[in-house]
Amino acid sequence: MKSKRSLAMANGNQLEQKCCPADKSCDSHGEGCPSQQKSDKDTEAPKDHVTPQAEKMSGDMDEPLISCQLVESNPNLIEIPSQSQTVGILGSGDFARSLATRLVGSGFRVIVGSRNPKRTAGLFPAAAQVILQAEAVSTPEIIFVAMYREHYSTLSSLSDLLVGKILVDVSNSTEKEHLQQRESNAEYLASLFPSCTVVKAFNVISAWSLQSGPKDGNKQVLISGDQQKAKYKVSEIARAMGFIPVDMGSLAYAKEIEAIPLRLLPKWKIPAILALGLFICFYTYNFIRDVLQPYIQERKNKFYKLPLSVVNTTLPCVAYVMLSLVYLPGVLAAALQLYWGTKYSRFPDWLDHWLQHRKQIGLLSFFCASLHAVYSFCLPLRRSSRYLIINEAVKQVLANKSNIWNEEEVWRMEIYISLGILALGILSLLAITSLPSISNSLNWREFTFVQSTLGFLALVVSTFHTLTYGWTRAFADSRYLPPTFTLTLLVPCVVILAKGIFLLPCLRHRLARIRRGWEKKTTVKFVLPTDYPHTEKTSHV
Ligand SMILES: Cc1cc2nc3c(=O)[nH]c(=O)nc-3n(C[C@H](O)[C@H](O)[C@H](O)COP(=O)(O)OP(=O)(O)OC[C@H]3O[C@@H](n4cnc5c(N)ncnc54)[C@H](O)[C@@H]3O)c2cc1C
Ligand SMILES: NC(=O)c1ccc[n+]([C@@H]2O[C@H](COP(=O)([O-])OP(=O)(O)OC[C@H]3O[C@@H](n4cnc5c(N)ncnc54)[C@H](OP(=O)(O)O)[C@@H]3O)[C@@H](O)[C@H]2O)c1
Ligand code: HEM
Repeated sequence: MKSKRSLAMANGNQLEQKCCPADKSCDSHGEGCPSQQKSDKDTEAPKDHVTPQAEKMSGDMDEPLISCQLVESNPNLIEIPSQSQTVGILGSGDFARSLATRLVGSGFRVIVGSRNPKRTAGLFPAAAQVILQAEAVSTPEIIFVAMYREHYSTLSSLSDLLVGKILVDVSNSTEKEHLQQRESNAEYLASLFPSCTVVKAFNVISAWSLQSGPKDGNKQVLISGDQQKAKYKVSEIARAMGFIPVDMGSLAYAKEIEAIPLRLLPKWKIPAILALGLFICFYTYNFIRDVLQPYIQERKNKFYKLPLSVVNTTLPCVAYVMLSLVYLPGVLAAALQLYWGTKYSRFPDWLDHWLQHRKQIGLLSFFCASLHAVYSFCLPLRRSSRYLIINEAVKQVLANKSNIWNEEEVWRMEIYISLGILALGILSLLAITSLPSISNSLNWREFTFVQSTLGFLALVVSTFHTLTYGWTRAFADSRYLPPTFTLTLLVPCVVILAKGIFLLPCLRHRLARIRRGWEKKTTVKFVLPTDYPHTEKTSHV
């Protein structure tokens, strides 16, 4: 197999031939333009040297891999130079087609092995050769097995032809198959062809991602295998196609890699269930309190509140409680560390899990708070709201009142709306910094400041927003059930109070010392063996 440098060279060569036959007609003589590469190569680089453009083509994701419009619109025009590296593919399905297109676009010669080449050849780029399986495997050193596991055994007739080849297993299983099968698909393939080297790769990349290029999908190609050299060669192909190869270790790790595409947002399951559970509880409570109770007691029909008003009372409660649940585990952890007098004792599992899910809980809180803001801005748009205002106006006229301005109510609303907007603004900052591209650009201190300090500030501001919204209604309300906001205040107030207590100098200093490694009592004692020569001098260096 060729080195990275010669691969890159192949890319450059291929692009040269792909378009701009007149060397002038290409509109975009940019970095990716083949005519530009041609002039660079012709003038300065000998055949076995890599031009800067060619080197860039092999790894730089910003460069288009199939650079010319002409080629993109009609891949049949591609011609592959004879010195390009040859890669084989067994299978002619969706994955094989996307892989072949990408490989051809990246300057490889592609030979596809199919059971029925006549039927499938038309679906591949013209530059890819589609022939019978037995013919296809003779030339290439690296062969992608783009078939399902259950069909691997049908390849047994090719055993002799495959001796010494590198087989790339790209397969995935269903969840059921994954649980039932003890060995990974890659290990199974290796057991069928002991004379080959099997490398697991590309299963985490979808056919769509391959076709649209790494810009629009996952860029990492996880690779595992027992032979370093074989892994390196597959890595170079991945890199040449614009992906980032990640070495995951031996073939024994293939099972783990095969499990990755089966996972569906694993870290979100518990936080999502928590949010849904809280939503159902608060919605039911609000329905009973704001709709059912007035209907039973006073025969008032307030069912119109169900789609919007009750939802807008429920969403902020979920957002607010979830926000407090982001900061509660930190408080519990601090309390445990103070109690134990060490940071080296393991937290209970439930607390450990809770601490690990804070990001997802926080983002769901932000999601609910954002919806609450939109719902709140829509409250005055409702027809019910307009009827209520007109009815109030009529009542006022009949009662001969000319002015019902209530200074306290005006101030209360101005303040609580403003505090709500402020809290949402701070939460938006937290949400933005949780994006990997942003968090990677922050140092640990900056990230902690935003997440820990500003996040806690958001909780405090939300508490004032809720308190000013509720004002004296907690006590003035004549209904049996207390207003919802009084229930929501419990956990956040406990968290704020506890954080306040931990800020007391005596506790703050002790906590800071514990988190720097200080311990109340040393639990690990170093006992010297009885036969140790006590007189011998030891070095303390
Ligand atoms: C919208 C939103 C987005 C979020 N995004 C993220 C995210 O991307 N990533 C994320 O992790 N969380 C995220 N969170 C959750 C939350 O903001 C953070 O987990 C936050 O750091 C929790 O702060 P804390 O003060 O409770 O605890 P911590 O920051 O864990 O710790 C409390 C204090 O202890 C100190 N401390 C903690 N551990 C140690 C130690 N081992 N040694 C010394 N000092 C220590 C810290 O400096 C801090 O002062 C998000 C929350 C929201 C609302
Ligand atoms: N599609 C994706 O997005 C994707 C992503 C990651 C991984 N993968 C993996 O890639 C592999 C292929 O997936 P795919 O989507 O391309 O599947 P597919 O469209 O069903 O293609 C499978 C190919 O296997 C070949 N084959 C060989 N022997 C066969 C037999 N006995 N019965 C049926 N087919 C046989 C067929 O090609 P011939 O008829 O030409 O021989 C067929 O086209 C799978 O292991 C899959 O898990 C797919
Ligand atoms: C743009 C931002 C915000 C605006 C405009 C806003 C507005 C409002 C309004 C109008 C109400 C009264 C709802 C009603 O009449 O039923 C309210 C209540 C409430 N808001 Fe906000 N809010 C905002 C952000 C937030 C945030 C970020 C939180 C907390 C995370 C929050 C928590 C609450 C709570 C708990 C209530 C009380 C719900 C109840 O029991 O009725 N709000 N807010």
